[in-house]
Amino acid sequence: MTPEAASMKAEELCLLAPVIPVLVVKDAGTAALLARALVTGGLPVLEVTLRTPSALDVIREMSGVAGGVVGAGTLLTPADVEAAKAAGAQFGVSPGATDTILDACEANDLPLLPGAATATEVMRLLERGYTVQKFFPAEANGGAPALKSLASPLPQVRFCPTGGVSLANAGTYLSLPNTLCVGGSWVAPSDKVDSGDWAGIEALAREASKLPR
Ligand code: 3PG
Repeated sequence: MTPEAASMKAEELCLLAPVIPVLVVKDAGTAALLARALVTGGLPVLEVTLRTPSALDVIREMSGVAGGVVGAGTLLTPADVEAAKAAGAQFGVSPGATDTILDACEANDLPLLPGAATATEVMRLLERGYTVQKFFPAEANGGAPALKSLASPLPQVRFCPTGGVSLANAGTYLSLPNTLCVGGSWVAPSDKVDSGDWAGIEALAREASKLPR
């Protein structure tokens, strides 16, 4: 898959909902219930981070939930890319972007939302053909004012800011011309996931899905 095709797919996914839940899931046994709560609440695009031993099983379980589009986050190595693809991930997300990870996603036909934090990193990805990128870590890196500043010299690149994004600041990001959607873990807090509060998570998702953009 070319970088241009990957960016087209990433844009399509980013436009499905204003928020992509960033999920750290320990228990694959409840993964489908979590995915259903988020999808029912209006957030169909789900990023399962490869940060738990069960993450690949979680991707498999969530991929069976109707209406969801499940991807793998925290892709760091070609082995991560291959495992994510084999588990059924429909897209990938990486915190940064190395040639190694870009090559692996292109070779494995996995659309990637690659991370960038500086103008130089954004330009390097743009040179390669990636026009849709993750701005990470968004808040620690200057937040919405920093992202807005990138829009003047680099209007052709659009972003999913992630990292420190919450219901309180998501609207500011979403009002920027270069923001397609935001990513965040606040819609699936670990206390609610651990206690199985699916109604509570559905309510958080519904609230997030109504954010204007
Ligand atoms: C992450 O990599 O954990 C994501 O950026 C989510 O960040 P958040 O927990 O601050 O939403």
